Amino acid sequence: MSTLIQNGRIITAEQDYTADVLIENEKITAIGAALSVKADKVIDAKGKYVIPGGIDVHTHMDMPFGGTTSSDDFETGTRAAAFGGTTSLIDFAIQTKGQKIREALDIWWKKGEKATVDYGLHMIVTDLPEAHIEDMNEMVREGLTSFKLFMAYPGVLMVDDATIYRAMKKTAENGALVCMHAENGGVIDLFVQKAIAEGKTAPIYHALTRPTTAEGEAVNRAIALAQMAGAPVYIVHLSSADALEKVAEARDRGLPVFAETCPQYLLLSIEDLDRPNFEGAKYVFTPPLREKWHQDELWKGIRKNTLQVVSTDHCPFCFKEQKELGRESFAKIPNGGPGVENRLQLLFHHGVNQKRISLNRWVEITSTTPAKMFGMYPRKGTIALGSDADIVIWNPNTEHTISASTHHMRVDYSMFEGFKIKGNAETVLSRGEVVVDNGKWNGKAGRGKFIKRDAFGGAWK
Ligand code: URP
Ligand code: ZN
Ligand code: ZN
Repeated sequence: MSTLIQNGRIITAEQDYTADVLIENEKITAIGAALSVKADKVIDAKGKYVIPGGIDVHTHMDMPFGGTTSSDDFETGTRAAAFGGTTSLIDFAIQTKGQKIREALDIWWKKGEKATVDYGLHMIVTDLPEAHIEDMNEMVREGLTSFKLFMAYPGVLMVDDATIYRAMKKTAENGALVCMHAENGGVIDLFVQKAIAEGKTAPIYHALTRPTTAEGEAVNRAIALAQMAGAPVYIVHLSSADALEKVAEARDRGLPVFAETCPQYLLLSIEDLDRPNFEGAKYVFTPPLREKWHQDELWKGIRKNTLQVVSTDHCPFCFKEQKELGRESFAKIPNGGPGVENRLQLLFHHGVNQKRISLNRWVEITSTTPAKMFGMYPRKGTIALGSDADIVIWNPNTEHTISASTHHMRVDYSMFEGFKIKGNAETVLSRGEVVVDNGKWNGKAGRGKFIKRDAFGGAWK
């Protein structure tokens, strides 16, 4: 099966030009002006952008958390991702305490069998006795070349500094990358207990008990641990200016420190947690939303490359049945929010259209750098000869309003309800197959493949 995309404006992280793209056997096999080839299918992309499929390196499908399970599974979540122009994601397998890492991987491979587009896995490590540390090498051989560790959620996911250091030391050897959830969980827990004892149980207290200082401190500690271990570190879901400053300082010192933020931190604020009728619960995730002024600092961080990636931390819980678990206390609200479908749209509209970032930078933070950082480049993350034909035909003029009534994520609300967006994915190809065709779903469960990723291999950029 061959497909020819004609006359599109090809946008990569570096280039911007008009050409045709030929796809054969899932790969890009020719790029050029007015290619004179015959193809089984021809797509006219005149007036549209032709971009590499988005890569969301931080999602939680089918994840047991906070007494329930995130509402999208690998089928519904990858399908929603594709509708928004994201053709690969990296989700998280979770090792529960006492479990062998290998057993955790097998469970998540099973869950991933339903994926409609390609997916990789990070491994969340919650327990690393000396006897299991070599298992990290086995994960790297299996193509899981990144590990997430938590400095928050004591008693559930949090690990101590010695464990973080030991894991980092191992990644310094095997070329993997530690992804760090950086918040001071011990101190936050004290704030949470105090608030509850004082009867402060509304959703807003989720943010008021998790100050930006707790994030800044943990980011600083994560960087110091990585420096001592001689390893790189990638800070996930960075939310505040305090944390950003620590990353900027470390990068100025030449350390291999990297960070992502998410659209919610760029576009929403602590005021959303104060919405009446328990609606604030829709915005309970960690780290929490911050005061509005942090948004400008994060946009600046993207422009200055202190932040290299924007992911979503997609972890949806339905408002009616799941967020409800915390009606009596914010501490029981399942932490997480939906967004996998909206990342490209929001960053295009609020980034490119509003002249905060260039078209090339938009592609870079949503696709190219994620691919490089997580061992998938140039197989994914660009439009080049030999790359997977994960391609989005983006119409910069389509206008739509984000709403739970029209989105494809399996969740009963949108964090961005009512946001008016100009620009959207029109046709989406995953390894050459048109999975979204002008708003119509053509994909199927199980067609997504596990992405065996290369090791990060040390410092990059
Ligand atoms: O609230 C969040 N972020 N839920 C997902 C788990 C995590 O910490 O990434
Ligand atoms: Zn996290
Ligand atoms: Zn997360």
